[in-house]
Amino acid sequence: MALFSKKNINGDEFSVLPKHIGIIMDGNGRWAKKRALPRSAGHKAGANVFRTISKECEKLGIDYVTFYAFSTENWKRPKEEVDALMNLFMDYLLEAKSDMTQAGNSKIKFIGEREGISDDLLKLMDEAEAETASHTGTTIYLAINYGGRQEIVSAVNRLISQGKSKITESDISSNIYTVPECDLIIRPSGEERLSNFLLWQAAYSEFWYSDVLWPDFKISDLHSALREFENRNRRFGA
Ligand code: FPP
Repeated sequence: MALFSKKNINGDEFSVLPKHIGIIMDGNGRWAKKRALPRSAGHKAGANVFRTISKECEKLGIDYVTFYAFSTENWKRPKEEVDALMNLFMDYLLEAKSDMTQAGNSKIKFIGEREGISDDLLKLMDEAEAETASHTGTTIYLAINYGGRQEIVSAVNRLISQGKSKITESDISSNIYTVPECDLIIRPSGEERLSNFLLWQAAYSEFWYSDVLWPDFKISDLHSALREFENRNRRFGA
């Protein structure tokens, strides 16, 4: 079961804060379309919001935040858009490498399949993980080439290859990516679905939706989600 902590925001006491927040950064394409811009411009604006929100999570003392940056299904998008996204990930990691204030005291980690990702990006991912491994602040998980079903299937296949004939919940928990149970899922842009994100870890997540498109998402939206989370009555099935 998840643990919670207290925190002050601008003098306001939050009685509980989620230990782990999952964020589905949705609405970049629509944001760009509204401005007659290419979709890549929406992703670029979204990447800047990612920077702002990850820093705010660090400031608030949130233990873990997982950002859904690229799903296993996103390869089906036009090559131009996929390339633009991969370049944004590279830019962020290069910045984080040359200017550690980008990462602050956060630990950067990745979840998802490595297969399919370019060697250049994999190298930067490995370096970012190694260089931030000793950081003690928020752990930022970037889900790149990630799919919740794929994660569970891989775990089951690993267990089969170890000779297991009967599988328990704890077997699966210890063979998926080492991301803790998720307390709160934030999805902007008016869509209200999980889209193959953290399927196992979201079993008891609270959900917070908003019509705001991700590139317009503000620190105040994050605080609204946290305020609502604080008032949720979580029973974990009891
Ligand atoms: C979904 O919105 C968003 C994505 C598939 C990509 C999200 C990635 C980013 C915001 C960049 C993150 C950058 C870093 C450095 C981590 P959509 O494009 O499907 O929006 P739409 O539903 O309006 O078309």
